[in-house]
Amino acid sequence: MTEQVAEVITIDGPSGSGKGTISRLLANKLGWHFLDSGALYRLVGLASRRHAIDFEDKQGLATLAAHLDVEFVSDDEGWETRIFLEGEDVTNGIRSEECGNDASRVAAVQVVRDALFERQRAFLRPPGLIADGRDMGTVIFPTARLKIFLTASLEERASRRYKQLKEKGLNANLAALLDELAIRDERDKSRSAAPLVAAKDAVTIDTSNSGIDEVVAEVYALWLRVNE
Ligand code: DC
Repeated sequence: MTEQVAEVITIDGPSGSGKGTISRLLANKLGWHFLDSGALYRLVGLASRRHAIDFEDKQGLATLAAHLDVEFVSDDEGWETRIFLEGEDVTNGIRSEECGNDASRVAAVQVVRDALFERQRAFLRPPGLIADGRDMGTVIFPTARLKIFLTASLEERASRRYKQLKEKGLNANLAALLDELAIRDERDKSRSAAPLVAAKDAVTIDTSNSGIDEVVAEVYALWLRVNE
């Protein structure tokens, strides 16, 4: 019996670049699995608050990350994934800006990243995986045959986040979002641990003026070309 190969396409980029939606659509189109690595950092942030672990306590955070009791449950179509932390459904809760900021802080801690390495690699199963994050192409799946880096202007990304939060019925303020995104971008880019940067062999796509479907089609076409 020939062993089935698990392919991977990495999709990295800053918050609001469209990564989440584009990655989900691609996973659906290809019938592949999906890794939302940002959710893992959000979960570590949330769990550390719940267990009163200080963000300065790096070892405490790493231990928590290594033993994180999480479950990703997909519906039959693989379209919607519900996320459980210690048995509680936190799917919507972890999308708040507060959780995003906590995630960005714990994500700067190298031992936390190390603790999540194998957990992320374990998502790689046949027929393939769309891996969404900041370091998917640089650190977690460096041998991926197709690496995408999505970007968009700060204003466009803030306005997308604003709409997303409103749709989810969460509080949102555009000016505050702009400031928070700029701070988070800077932290994600300037940290020493796996900074947000395009892999040398990544294809960069600016999504500021493109529709979601257009970008999905572009990445899909790139994948077909890689396989020619
Ligand atoms: O994609 P997101 O907004 O859910 O990610 C939340 C934070 O987690 C983001 O500010 C940076 C961090 N992150 C990371 O450092 N590495 C990843 N692979 C994914 C997210």
